Amino acid sequence: SDIEKGTYPHYMLKEIDEQPLVMRRIIEKYRNENGELSIDSHIIESVNDADRIYIIAAGTSYHAGLVGKQFMENWAKIPVEVHIASEFSYNMPLLSEKPLFVFISQSGETADSRAVLVQVKQKGYKALTITNVPGSTLSREADYTLLLHAGPEIAVASTKAYTAQLAVLAILAAVTAQGKDLSLQFDLTKELGIVANTMEVLCGQKEEMEKIAREYLITTRNCFFIGRSVDYYVGLEGALKLKEISYIQAEGFAGGELKHGTIALIEDGTPIIALATQEHVNLGIRGNVKEVVARGANPCIISMKGLEEEGDRFIIPALHEALSPLASVIPLQLISYYAALHRGCDVDKPRNLAKSVTVE
Ligand code: G6P
Repeated sequence: SDIEKGTYPHYMLKEIDEQPLVMRRIIEKYRNENGELSIDSHIIESVNDADRIYIIAAGTSYHAGLVGKQFMENWAKIPVEVHIASEFSYNMPLLSEKPLFVFISQSGETADSRAVLVQVKQKGYKALTITNVPGSTLSREADYTLLLHAGPEIAVASTKAYTAQLAVLAILAAVTAQGKDLSLQFDLTKELGIVANTMEVLCGQKEEMEKIAREYLITTRNCFFIGRSVDYYVGLEGALKLKEISYIQAEGFAGGELKHGTIALIEDGTPIIALATQEHVNLGIRGNVKEVVARGANPCIISMKGLEEEGDRFIIPALHEALSPLASVIPLQLISYYAALHRGCDVDKPRNLAKSVTVE
């Protein structure tokens, strides 16, 4: 069954490996009888009625929201704000006239998000919940639900739910765009199929990921992730994975911000994991790598095929640039897994953390 580890030593590893399957399942679940991507028309109407979308989430789901904002704004041309649930509930921004609230939550039970949902429902606003758990609190209390279809996620560190969230957000953005006659220059079904295949290739490269973890992360106190544009958001997620399960002090930084403070932290041997999957910022991130290397950093560059340079540590097969987070997060998940494993940490049940946090 879905909730048995089978031959896997940890749920986390099993759930990382399930990502290609989940991707293919999502494509099937969000297809209509004509084979086109499709979403309940009431949801699309609500999205189109809104003059602004407010994404509310916590943890990994918040990081998915940051990427989702790009899909929504670039493809469907709807302004999106992404907020940390706990902050939003006591520091609510001035809202637009016709807001739509989108709650992203693997469990559908996160109390911080629920507190916001209760507030916005009191104000009479519409809410959509994107969750892995049918019938969860956030699903029941919102007007609409989109399911992740990722199957039960047991490991505390979220993996397959994150990529499922990205896929569902991409489908929501693409279907909204189509409804508005904003034709996309690509076929999302096909591109998500390529993503699934790429995920499979990446999941087959565990030995390489284990080597990287051993080489960079066995004794280090800290590790920084750098990236620009969506690579920055994936870096935030990579850093969260690493800190959650290996207890290494890990932070994600926007490449352009390094010079404004962070670069002071670089010492001899500091591991820096740099993502280079975006052509329009490739020059910038390459410049950042040179800057940190000049200060003694030990760089691990993960790039996308076509943008690779000599010395890059790992190259992700080419896929649609906007969808790169669905693939580039996988090496980061695996590197975190092996770092935690070889540092003797309890991968599936890290200290001080709970899978779903039902208190504010
Ligand atoms: C907890 C978990 C995180 C998760 C966050 C949000 O803190 O440890 O892994 O990202 O909650 O959970 P949700 O179920 O709302 O996505």
